[in-house]
Amino acid sequence: MYKVELMQVYIGEGLLEADALVNFTASYPKVILICDAYLKELYAEPLAKKLNAHLLFVPSGESAKSLSVVDVLQRNLAQLGADRETLLVAMGGGTVSDLVGFVASIYLRGLPLLLIPTTLLAMVDAAIGGKNGINTTFGKNQLGTIYLPRAMVADVAILKTLPEKQWRNGLAELLKIGLVYEPKVMDFLKRENALQLVTQGARAKSAVVEQDLMDHGIRHILNFGHTIGHALEAATGYDLSHGEAVAIGALVESSLSLHLGFLSRSDYHTIQQLYAKHLPGLKLSSNYCRERCLQALLLDKKRRDGSIRTVVLQGVGSVFSAEGEYCVTVSNSMLETVIKEMELNFFGA
Ligand SMILES: NC(=O)c1ccc[n+]([C@@H]2O[C@H](COP(=O)([O-])OP(=O)(O)OC[C@H]3O[C@@H](n4cnc5c(N)ncnc54)[C@H](O)[C@@H]3O)[C@@H](O)[C@H]2O)c1
Ligand SMILES: [Zn+2]
Repeated sequence: MYKVELMQVYIGEGLLEADALVNFTASYPKVILICDAYLKELYAEPLAKKLNAHLLFVPSGESAKSLSVVDVLQRNLAQLGADRETLLVAMGGGTVSDLVGFVASIYLRGLPLLLIPTTLLAMVDAAIGGKNGINTTFGKNQLGTIYLPRAMVADVAILKTLPEKQWRNGLAELLKIGLVYEPKVMDFLKRENALQLVTQGARAKSAVVEQDLMDHGIRHILNFGHTIGHALEAATGYDLSHGEAVAIGALVESSLSLHLGFLSRSDYHTIQQLYAKHLPGLKLSSNYCRERCLQALLLDKKRRDGSIRTVVLQGVGSVFSAEGEYCVTVSNSMLETVIKEMELNFFGA
């Protein structure tokens, strides 16, 4: 167990069976478990019983991160008589921690929150560091806050039922943290190393967040791969999963780093090989639309004076920074060059 400022992080095997979890929730007069509907029988019902919690379900997947689901939840919370002593427990992948984190932060201006991530991606990324958010018609995570949970409990035993596709999504975020901060993470990218992998990945993300909780400086490095990645999610109507989009985004942004003269050709090849080894077969979905991709890039949160800004690599485990600034401006012509290159590389690859 360690702490990210006010947040406690517990990682282990069998934690959901442990009495410590019951002891933690027992100190709250009311507990409401909000869970991905897909996990109902397998995990949510037994846990709700154990914690003596009310149980609410949200749709599985990205569609849960919407204003309409926030509206349903706030009604449910009011009907259950939730007050500022009520503990919200979010159980599911990153979509659930993002959604419930957002609701917890705005309902009565803040309810105590416990995150129980159930995907690799959520354990090492989404559930660490307090960022939450929902999507709007204008883009991904357009509404959100930074709100720390009281604790995050990652029980790696739950990953046994995680499908391969979801495992790959987690690997995409882990490769990213390896590239921008802690290459050691890349030594454990196998399912049999789940405990070490989650521990290393979560620690690396925590180490970055601890330096910059409010996202004014070094935390920007975690956006590597996401400028292009978020645009690809929008440009494919979310047919590409977050992890797939971020993995392609990381390769495109590595290519940008090469074209802009920050990254050597040999490091670029090393990065290509890492992705070919750990995430083989990455490709764009058939409904990808260049216009929608460019449109989404125009809405990127990091843009300044109409230009895209992105994190660039100067080596494996090292990003370029100058005077506390971690993003560089990319000209529209350079952006078009790498987007065309991406279309060549990832269509039917
Ligand atoms: N807030 C942050 O800092 C942050 C960081 C990274 C990603 N995110 C967000 O996280 C979201 C992606 O999260 P995700 O990849 O976990 O997706 P997800 O929450 O949609 O879960 C993926 C799928 O896995 C299933 N699932 C979950 N746990 C399972 C288990 N143990 N066994 C079997 N199936 C299981 C779910 O039902 C779902 O269908 C995106 O919306 C992204 O924007 C947020
Ligand atoms: Zn991400």
